[in-house]
Amino acid sequence: MPSTTRPRPWWESGTIYQIYPRSFYDTTGDGVGDLTGVIEKLDHVSSLGVDAIWLSPIFPSPMADFGYDVADYTDIDPLFGDLATFDRLLAEVHARGLKLILDFVPNHSSDHHPWFRESRSSRDDPKRDWYIWHDPAPDGGPPNNWISDFGGSAWEWDAATGQYYLHAFLKSQPDLNWRNPDLRAAMFDAMRFWLDRGVDGFRIDVLWHIVKAEGFPDNPPNPDWTPDKTERDKVIQLYSADQPEAHAIAAEMRALADSYGSRVLIGEIFLPNAAHARWYGTPQRPEVHLPFNFQLVENPWDADVLRRTIADYAASLPSWGWPNWVFGSHDAARIAARIGEAQARVAALLLLTLRGTPTLYQGDEVGIGRVPIPPERIRDPQHFRQPSLNIGRDRSRTPMPWDKSAFAGFSTAEPWLPLNPDWPERNVAAQSVDPSSMLSLYRRLLTIRRQTPALAIGDMKLLDAPSGMLAYIRMQAGELRTILLNLTDSPIAFDWQGDVLLSTLESPANPGQLRPNEGLILA
Ligand code: GLC
Repeated sequence: MPSTTRPRPWWESGTIYQIYPRSFYDTTGDGVGDLTGVIEKLDHVSSLGVDAIWLSPIFPSPMADFGYDVADYTDIDPLFGDLATFDRLLAEVHARGLKLILDFVPNHSSDHHPWFRESRSSRDDPKRDWYIWHDPAPDGGPPNNWISDFGGSAWEWDAATGQYYLHAFLKSQPDLNWRNPDLRAAMFDAMRFWLDRGVDGFRIDVLWHIVKAEGFPDNPPNPDWTPDKTERDKVIQLYSADQPEAHAIAAEMRALADSYGSRVLIGEIFLPNAAHARWYGTPQRPEVHLPFNFQLVENPWDADVLRRTIADYAASLPSWGWPNWVFGSHDAARIAARIGEAQARVAALLLLTLRGTPTLYQGDEVGIGRVPIPPERIRDPQHFRQPSLNIGRDRSRTPMPWDKSAFAGFSTAEPWLPLNPDWPERNVAAQSVDPSSMLSLYRRLLTIRRQTPALAIGDMKLLDAPSGMLAYIRMQAGELRTILLNLTDSPIAFDWQGDVLLSTLESPANPGQLRPNEGLILA
């Protein structure tokens, strides 16, 4: 994993913080967060020590999928504010030396988007081909066996015009047709609109989905499917995703971003390593800077599995590809809910010392764990499509607990989703003054990372380690740091040497062992 001597773009050494605006801070008293709320809490983001904010969608939307159903790509939903508030946010972000990355949702719009209303108005409408329409199969059923990622057929019948339209997600999220040059131009104009305003890049939603195979062949059945898996997994998405034409579009998006200077494109891509790595493109025709890497979310919290995961991912990267790591998001279960608070501290150390750009998810910095969502408060449409699977995403979208005042200082009204039950103690204000808190650990880690080129940009080498432990070194220009992580709640005998720069535990470390749940950075 050699490092090069070229100048480093900010997003390689930087850390990204994902804000889910509905749940960050509400200034209007409606129980839902807004852009003024993001502005008012920017000091929290700065004091954390991250470099960039990625904002989940803020565009006009009927909110069937909480903003991932966009009804206008170039405006702000009144729930969140307006363009003037957005410009103020961008200026405030930049004034603090931070970057702002928007969520761009190119695979589908909302069925409320005027483009879709026109498209479905008649078969002859000029925008008919901006979406993916198809005649029924000979038996009158859907054109093929494709399954929506949220379950059920990916095709919806439109009686008025006698054709089906494709939706990889909800039926209120019709897929756009990127093979149509006018649609393509309109989407590039939308990207330009925000780049011209000064945004520093985009996180591109389900990028690998955006083009479908010509002829719409059936996807092959998945021989490993069992009923405890999602309906989507019944078939292998061979023809409905990861098509070569989508790579060409990613390259076009990259050329646009590069024409604005130092902007970043992050692609949401779930694929095995070899296919995933292709989304970097080539040096001659680069695609996204960072294809999001979700392997820490997807794999069990086990030292052997993670060692293999880290090594295989590193080996799969092209020499021009910079790695990245994600631990949580508005879609994934909370890390502290998965592995418990003591190990979530070890996980924070791992995320912020692996080689590659880390993305943190709001609320993980205070260690929000399992949040019970009573049935009457469930909001996530994914849950309602397959209720028996318990894959609802509300559990990771609960509001930020800011302090111990009513509704955790998030809002003056009942929040749209329940708070973490321990909010009176687990909140930003309480953890800010507690040196042993998760928040203090994150701040210390981010400070050390900023001060230590070996951790931010250095090379990495995995070390042999006893069972249950991960060990590696990071090095840059003669600076060397050793990271030791005990992924269990038992002590592990290990004869380590060096000065402890940081420990996940409070009391002094013991040479000769790693204590239960201990993570160390050594110099
Ligand atoms: C992405 C988003 C998710 C959304 C889906 C459809 O996976 O992260 O929240 O539901 O795309 O847009």
